[in-house]
Amino acid sequence: MHFRALNHIFTKFLFTNKSATALHTRSMACSRYEYVKSYEQDDKILPNVWIVIRIDGKKFHKFANAHKFEKPNDENALNVMNAAGIAVMEEFRDIVLGYGQSDEYSFVFRKDTSAFKRRAAKLLSYVTSMFTSSYVLSWSQWMQRPLSYAPCFDGRIVLYPSDENLRDYLSWRQADVHVNNLYNTAFWKLVLESGLTNQQAEERLRGTFSSDKNELLFQEFGINYNTLPAMYRKGTILLRKRVVLDSQDEQEKGRQAIVPIHEDLIGNEFWKQHTEILGKYVPGKHVVNSLNKHLERQLAKQLEKQATIAEI
Ligand code: GTP
Ligand code: MG
Repeated sequence: MHFRALNHIFTKFLFTNKSATALHTRSMACSRYEYVKSYEQDDKILPNVWIVIRIDGKKFHKFANAHKFEKPNDENALNVMNAAGIAVMEEFRDIVLGYGQSDEYSFVFRKDTSAFKRRAAKLLSYVTSMFTSSYVLSWSQWMQRPLSYAPCFDGRIVLYPSDENLRDYLSWRQADVHVNNLYNTAFWKLVLESGLTNQQAEERLRGTFSSDKNELLFQEFGINYNTLPAMYRKGTILLRKRVVLDSQDEQEKGRQAIVPIHEDLIGNEFWKQHTEILGKYVPGKHVVNSLNKHLERQLAKQLEKQATIAEI
């Protein structure tokens, strides 16, 4: 008899006979191939360390050009990044802080998280893929032109044993924004407004200190760098808070949401104000000024999403 016909009869017999099916399943589970599973490596992260996951856009200089991002900062493109960061924090509740700037986002998991049994590959791949899919989903909410190709992000895990190490890590990322943004602001002013070529602008800024660039912006373009939008100068910090509108009763408990703020996190003040990050994690309270329409819009979107998920 033809092999295919024989196979068909055998399969039919196997699956119409319950005990035979169980036998089949058991023999599958203990197949001689199963030993390959032992090649998988245990990637459980050490207990009691801060787990930081940083994702970064692949070749975003090209992606930014292809999608005509404004230079040096495209407010809407940064809002897409923030929306993706918020989506990640909504999904993974053990993340106590997110920090985003340019095409990167860092997420800090609480030290005692047991999410995915602290398995590194699971944590990293879930966060990276959740960020990427949320970036794509949020795109049309902020951007006018359609996505012309799929963006992608790399991801890495870094572990920090002490609170000081964690603070230094975040300070490093925020100092990076400052250095890059001051340079880029001066660079693009020279190119776009003074008509210098990229090379001329580069030469003009070579060897200059921060104070020189501040002076150049002020003298030549009438710009006080410190008055530029805080999101560009400080990046975006995402914190989980109980949100209360300033029009609401002070006793109101508020709804939990992820709040984007653009503050200095290098100094001590930030850590005194948001003690929940390093302490026993209980979301602090955040009073939203009803004049802050942008923040209101962000929060309304989150509450809408929470309601939709609850309905499903
Ligand atoms: P890889 O990360 O190594 O793949 O390269 P990359 O091109 O993504 O460079 P990197 O991550 O170092 O830097 C991010 C780049 O994204 C910046 O250099 C900018 O070119 C671009 N970018 C990020 N945000 C903006 C923005 O708001 N406006 C513009 N115009 N460009 C941006
Ligand atoms: Mg990049």
